[in-house]
Amino acid sequence: MTVYWPDNAKDAFGHEILRADHQFEDSELFSDDGLAHLLDLYPRSALDIWTFESRHQGGTLAQKGRAPRMSGKDIVDAVKHGHIWLSLPCANHELEDLKPVADELYGSLETATGRRPMKREMNLLISSPNVEVGYHLDIPMVALFQVRGRKRLWLYPPEEEFAPAEHVEHLVHITREEDLPYQASFDEKARVFELAPGMGVTWPQLSPHRVRNAKCVNVSLSCEFMTTASLVNANAIYTNAFLRQNLNLSPKAQNGIGPAALGKAAFASLHKAMQPRDRGIAHTPITFELDPSIETCVKPLWA
Ligand SMILES: [Fe+2]
Repeated sequence: MTVYWPDNAKDAFGHEILRADHQFEDSELFSDDGLAHLLDLYPRSALDIWTFESRHQGGTLAQKGRAPRMSGKDIVDAVKHGHIWLSLPCANHELEDLKPVADELYGSLETATGRRPMKREMNLLISSPNVEVGYHLDIPMVALFQVRGRKRLWLYPPEEEFAPAEHVEHLVHITREEDLPYQASFDEKARVFELAPGMGVTWPQLSPHRVRNAKCVNVSLSCEFMTTASLVNANAIYTNAFLRQNLNLSPKAQNGIGPAALGKAAFASLHKAMQPRDRGIAHTPITFELDPSIETCVKPLWA
């Protein structure tokens, strides 16, 4: 076993932040050559590439890119020298080499918490020095494992003040590419973690968070999953959105798996089954291409 969770994981999971230790930072899979190899094997059209342009008042504009003709090695070099954030979504399904890693990470979670992680989607994240990921939340549960580099993680309570129900309902219906409204005063209630290789952390579902890389390349594994409770919760939120938008009601966020939450979840399953796929999902357009001949490695398309 190479992943260690605290002894109280069974009781605390789902409502407290849990820290883990792991040993994947030693794996050659995540060396520069290992990452280049994984990038060569991964379907290039599925590779998520982002860069971030600084805006006034400390904001950033996230832009989506592509790298159709570059080798994995050149992409790793672009991450080292540019201001880029890469995600290889569902790397556990797309890359044979990473399946045993995902099995180990999810298996350790299941053993420690007594909950079976379903819908397992492990994303390999590779990002440039100093990159920041803005304030947002993820609908699935997340266990984040730091493999290379250091980053600061701010985690905020999953409460109305930090993640208004209407925003969360909106996110369930569209895409995770949208940030939540952030105020600097939120930081007073944040838990801050300095993530280093060998560390992992999981948090209660829908906890907002943001991340800032230190001055070094970062490699992380973001393990998304659902438990029975988190799936019921997500589906109940879906139904709340429907009630708010179509019946002008003000539904309350549910607290745990009760009859109301189960009823809403059942409605959501039925409603989703009746909808055409991808309905209402807004995809960010691709506006740049990675180009190693440019200093920033970012070449705007249609400039
Ligand atoms: Fe996230």
